[in-house]
Amino acid sequence: MLHFSVALFSLSLLSFFTSIDSTPRITLGFSYNDVLLTPKHSSANSRSDADTSTKLSKRIYLSTPIVSANMDTVTESRMAIAMAQCGGIGIIHRFNSIEEQVGQVEKVKRFRSAVIASPITISPEATVCQARQLMREKNITGLLVTDSNKKLLGIFTSRDMRFLPDSETPIKALMTKREDIATGNKDISIAKAKELLMKHRVEKLPLVDENDCIIGLITSKDIYHRAEYPHASTDSQDRLLVGAAIGVKEDSIDRAKALVSAGADVLVIDIAHGDSDLEVNTLKQIKSLFPDVDVIAGNVCTPEGTQRLIEAGADAIKVGVGPGSICTTRIVSGSGYPQLSAVINCTHVADAYGIPVIADGGIQTSGDITKAIAAGASTVMLGSLLAGTDESPGTPFLKNGKKFKVIRGMASFGTNLKRADTTKKEAYVPEGVEAIIPYKGSMAETVHQLIGGLYSGMSYCGVSTLSELRGNGDFVQITAAGMRESRAHDVQEMA
Ligand code: XMP
Repeated sequence: MLHFSVALFSLSLLSFFTSIDSTPRITLGFSYNDVLLTPKHSSANSRSDADTSTKLSKRIYLSTPIVSANMDTVTESRMAIAMAQCGGIGIIHRFNSIEEQVGQVEKVKRFRSAVIASPITISPEATVCQARQLMREKNITGLLVTDSNKKLLGIFTSRDMRFLPDSETPIKALMTKREDIATGNKDISIAKAKELLMKHRVEKLPLVDENDCIIGLITSKDIYHRAEYPHASTDSQDRLLVGAAIGVKEDSIDRAKALVSAGADVLVIDIAHGDSDLEVNTLKQIKSLFPDVDVIAGNVCTPEGTQRLIEAGADAIKVGVGPGSICTTRIVSGSGYPQLSAVINCTHVADAYGIPVIADGGIQTSGDITKAIAAGASTVMLGSLLAGTDESPGTPFLKNGKKFKVIRGMASFGTNLKRADTTKKEAYVPEGVEAIIPYKGSMAETVHQLIGGLYSGMSYCGVSTLSELRGNGDFVQITAAGMRESRAHDVQEMA
């Protein structure tokens, strides 16, 4: 009898589960460290001939497949400038006020340009003290002195006041006067401008119209940057490219409007669980407001999430749930997907729409960059590999005689201190940690090493362009012994 009733109960339980189709599913997923790329024949003569150009989003191309993460210990204007100079792009984080984020974007956009269309001007009656403050505020070394109609009267530079204390002296007494200033007109070529700057041994060449009114400015610094960084990521006016992150709540639309008018080239809608109505609705709203601005959406880790965001208008997809160095999402929530498999699965769908994928998080070595691209990503987003460099926000500090900087997850407690009210039931639950990371010196050196490793990886894969590598990885799964064999072993490393 008992047997019968248990059997009956089990049967009804089984049919209940069957009817709601809740059988758990399980698949195998791989992380970068689980695999290697099988070497193939290479016919390239030199690794440095490799072409690493790629697509960031539907309309934006980069010569280096690296994007610096929108984290407050990774990307502000200094990192974004350095990233764009080396052919990648930086995404300014959103953990600040709209004004602060806009200011960061403006600093990048002002850093270099073929012609500065609206140079900063000052009245001849202004004092040395006022000029010094304006230069400091705008982060520039010289001001064009004009009347109220923008007619050129002189130039006042930091050299003119180098040994003067803050003073009430009007700058007209110290400036270089109009008759001693070389100028160009609206049709001047960069080559001619360079010639004039050299001939007159000056740093700035104002451009004037037929009434001697200011219409632009060419600086020797801009010409130098153009020559020094030929692969820099630039817009049509030769200004550096920069992206900026927004969220999905409260101020996101106002933030997006302010960032676009400040010149942001690409927006990133960045939330931890991008496969959500909140993200889809924000994305649709942003795309209808700014159809000409590329929008990167994420983060997702499944083909379904990728498809939903692309159909809502995404111009690139950011893939990665929980692989980051400072992430605890997988531990806290139990959710996520091993990053290599996530990139392979999401790219499979994104490719069908011609939309690039950014592999975000979990990149520990240059070899991982090669693996991410061979898995299908077009670019990689880096956090910890770039934190700790001179260009990341924050100051290095000493600990046990060694220099470190701070890195923190954007969902860590420290970052969200304002939101965290531990007296409330719904107190903030962090999904990231705050940590220290060894100080690494210049970002350019780090990127040089990463790109050198990528060149090498491309050579082992028998390709000379990133588009040949992308999605064409021939991966082999390795064991724990294979992993051990891959690293330096049976020796004691010197450093
Ligand atoms: P890496 O490994 O390059 O990863 O340092 C950077 C990426 O990590 C993500 N990120 C977080 N993920 N909790 C998370 O689960 C966090 O607090 C957090 N902060 C950053 C983000 O995608 C970043 O680009």
